Amino acid sequence: MPKGRQPQRKVLIRRAAIKRRVGVVARQITRDFKGQRVHLVGVLKGACFFLADLAREIDLETSIDFIAVASYGRGGESSGQVRLLKDLDSSIAGLNVIVVEDILDTGLTLNYLLNLFRQRRPKTLRVAAFLDKPSRRVQPVKADYTGFTIPNEFVVGYGLDHAERYRSLKDVCVLRLPRT
Ligand code: PRP
Repeated sequence: MPKGRQPQRKVLIRRAAIKRRVGVVARQITRDFKGQRVHLVGVLKGACFFLADLAREIDLETSIDFIAVASYGRGGESSGQVRLLKDLDSSIAGLNVIVVEDILDTGLTLNYLLNLFRQRRPKTLRVAAFLDKPSRRVQPVKADYTGFTIPNEFVVGYGLDHAERYRSLKDVCVLRLPRT
């Protein structure tokens, strides 16, 4: 890409604010599930950074698992179908399940996952979303625990990507792509 045509990044949420907020969310979960075990289910791939930080701040017995899905509902251009790419490794029956997402956007992915998980009879089913973009919602789903509510900007970092780049940035940044 010629110089001057690189995507521009502007920090939206700094790493120190992320650390503080993850601590707050972890304390809410610790309080809500006092004395119990929580089973964290990360939605690959974006949620892995949030899940890793959150799990280490929750002062309870925790276990983790991962699921991967692909959504065809982006940008309003298609049917909003979600397809399962990788299922959980183990049963969630009877567990306090917390679905851990990096971002809640249209809600199509989360709506699909909640319907899938409800059929598997967890003891409780909650959602922790690092970022929430409520202005983009198509399905009326909500997170029980939210890191940050953000405007409708394209963001990368802390797990979020653009074409698989930028996931490992420590800050959340707005990405502005050059016009083509
Ligand atoms: C992102 C994100 C959520 C989903 C949210 O995943 O991790 O799973 O989109 O969008 P929605 O609310 O509109 O359904 P993505 O498909 O980009 O995969 P990734 O996590 O591997 O980047």
